[in-house]
This record gives sequence, structure tokens and C-alpha cells, in this order.
Amino acid sequence: MEKIVEIKNISMNYHTLERETLALKDLSFKVYKGDIVSIVSPSGCGKSTILSIISGLLKSSSRKIIVNGEPVSSTNKTIGYMFQKDHYPRQLSGGMGQRVALIRTLAIEPELLLLNEPFSVLDYQTRLAVANDIGSILKKEKKTAIMMTRDIKTGKFVI
Ligand SMILES: Nc1ncnc2c1ncn2[C@@H]1O[C@H](COP(=O)(O)OP(=O)(O)OP(=O)(O)O)[C@@H](O)[C@H]1O
Ligand SMILES: [Mg+2]
Repeated sequence: MEKIVEIKNISMNYHTLERETLALKDLSFKVYKGDIVSIVSPSGCGKSTILSIISGLLKSSSRKIIVNGEPVSSTNKTIGYMFQKDHYPRQLSGGMGQRVALIRTLAIEPELLLLNEPFSVLDYQTRLAVANDIGSILKKEKKTAIMMTRDIKTGKFVI
């Protein structure tokens, strides 16, 4: 099977004037082509940090991040990132907005999709419906995706 993402022993330490925060410690994992992976954790465990590092927006202290066989050094078009705080037209409902955001992210035809809490703004019922939709779009398009969520139910639903 073809490896799309390989992360080896990465750590991330944030420094501010007040404190130092160890957000990730010694994290390693691999994602293969066609995988749809959910990482489920409570708030503050480092989900957004992982996606920022994979997408090249943030540099980790150790740089052992391989995407499509190349080390990640900056952002590139093979990675589509659907952000946690999404800006969508006011006229759309939350559910429609999330569908539009996914389609916008898919439009650049990325090899790897990073989905950061795509359902957190939605009410429970809409969340399940949108999770289902997104799951079937990803499977139909044979996309490789990493999804971060705090909600174990939608995490399972997409798989
Ligand atoms: N820019 C930053 N500067 C300093 N600390 C940060 C920064 N970004 C994140 N952190 C800290 O790093 C840790 C991980 O944060 P991160 O946002 O990656 O978690 P998360 O799992 O995405 O949380 P959430 O579920 O709330 O989105 C937290 O303790 C957070 O306070
Ligand atoms: Mg986050």
C-alpha cells in the first residue's frame, strides 16, 4: 500500500512570554492512500497542531514529516485544509456552509485532505447528516483524509 503521510517522533513546544506548552511529544503515525482516519480527543490535546504541522503552516521542532514521499517544508497544493473556524456566506445555514467548505477544499483536487472539526458548529442532527455526506463524498472520490474531532460519534460515523 502507498504511504501518503509518515510522521516520525515529532514534538511541538509553543513558547509565549508567560509559558511554554508541550503540545505534542514523540508522535509517530502513518496514513496510507485511501485511508479516512479520525483522531478523537478532548480540547487542547494537539489536534490543530498536528494538522498545522502536516500542512506546513507550522514548523515542528523535529522535521520528520513526509507527505507523498517528500519532506514537508511549506504549504503546497497537494494538501487541502478545511479549517476549524470556517468563513462561509451568511445566507447559508451551518450545515450548508460545511458542505460548501468541503467542496471548496476538494476543488483544488488535493491528494490529502485535512479536516479540522468540520462538524463542531452544527447541531447534533445536522452533524450526523453532514458527517454522513462528507464520509460518502470522501469514499466516492477515493480521497485520503485525516479528520480531527472532539466528538466520538461523528468520528465513528465518517469511518
Ligand atoms: N499559538 C499557540 N501558542 C501557544 N500555545 C498554543 C498555541 N496553539 C496551541 N497552543 C497550546 O497547545 C495545546 C494544543 O492546542 P491545539 O489547538 O493543537 O489543541 P486541539 O486538540 O486542536 O484543541 P481543540 O479541540 O480545542 O481545537 C494547547 O495546550 C494550547 O493551549
Ligand atoms: Mg483544534
